[in-house]
Amino acid sequence: MFSNLLAGLLFGTLSVRGAALSVAFVNPALGGGSMLDLAAPPLGEPLNVIISGLSSPAVLTDAGVLNFAQAIGFSTECLGIHIGAPQSANLGDGNGSVNQTVELRQDFGNSALGTCLESLIGGNHFRVFRQNGPSANTGALFLAVSKEEDAEENHTIVPDGYDVGRNEFVASAVGTTSNNGVTYSTVAQNISGLLPVGTAGINHDIAIDGIVTLLTVTIQ
Ligand SMILES: *[C@@H]1O[C@H](CO)[C@@H](O)[C@H](O)[C@H]1NC(C)=O
Ligand SMILES: *[C@@H]1O[C@H](CO)[C@@H](O)[C@H](O)[C@H]1NC(C)=O
Ligand SMILES: *[C@@H]1O[C@H](CO)[C@@H](O)[C@H](O)[C@H]1NC(C)=O
Ligand SMILES: *[C@@H]1O[C@H](CO)[C@@H](O)[C@H](O)[C@H]1NC(C)=O
Repeated sequence: MFSNLLAGLLFGTLSVRGAALSVAFVNPALGGGSMLDLAAPPLGEPLNVIISGLSSPAVLTDAGVLNFAQAIGFSTECLGIHIGAPQSANLGDGNGSVNQTVELRQDFGNSALGTCLESLIGGNHFRVFRQNGPSANTGALFLAVSKEEDAEENHTIVPDGYDVGRNEFVASAVGTTSNNGVTYSTVAQNISGLLPVGTAGINHDIAIDGIVTLLTVTIQ
C-alpha cells in the first residue's frame, strides 16, 4: 500500500497547464478539490476507485467505460430511469465542481433488464467523474462506488456499503474480462492517505477504511 507521501510524489506533483498528462491521476486535494464527492454537502461519498489515466485511452472515453463496465457486470441505469439527483465532485483539475458523467448499476447478467432488477433489489452501483480540467488533464476516471439497499429502503447505502461496493467492484474487474470483442487486462493497487478513515464527512454516517483502489485497464 502506498503512503500518503509516496502517493503525492508519484501521482500528485505533475501539473502542466492544459496539456494532457501521462500520469495515473493527480491528487484532487493539490488543486483545491476533494476525494469526497458532493452528495449532500457538506457530506460526500468517497471516490474509492480510480481508473488510471495510464489505462488504454479507449477505456477512458464515455463509450469505453460503458463497455468495460458491461464486461464486469454493470450497465446503464434501468430504462434511463434515474433515481436521485446527479452528484458533483471537484477533482482539483481547474474545472471546479462538475456533475457525474454517468451512473452505472450492476446488471445481474442481463444488460437490458438487469439494472431494473438492481433498482428493485439493490446492488452495486457507481458514479463516474473525469479528471480532464486544464490544470490536471490526466483523463483518469474517479468512481464513487457503493452498494445499495433495495428500492423499499429508498436506495440507502448498506452498512459498510462503500468498502464492500469497492471490494466487489474491484474483484469483478481484476484479471482478464471481455465484452463486445474487446478484451481487458486489469491490475489493482491500493492507495491509502487520499481518503480519510472513519465517518467524518461521509454521507449516511458510514465508516470507510480510507483505501482507494487504483485500476489500470489495458486493452489486449
Ligand atoms: C448538475 O445537475 C443539476 C441537476 O440536474 C443541474 O441543475 C445543474 O445545472 C448541473 N450542473 C452542471 C454544472 O451541469
Ligand atoms: C473540464 O474542462 C475541459 C476544458 O479545460 C473541458 O474540455 C471538459 O469538458 C471539462 N470537464 C467537465 C466534466 O466539464
Ligand atoms: C422511504 O421514503 C419514504 C418517503 O420519503 C418514507 O415514507 C419511508 O419511511 C422511507 N423508507 C425507509 C425505509 O427509510
Ligand atoms: C485492497 O484493500 C482491500 C481492503 O483491505 C483488500 O480486500 C484488497 O485485497 C486490497 N487489494 C489489493 C490489490 O491490495
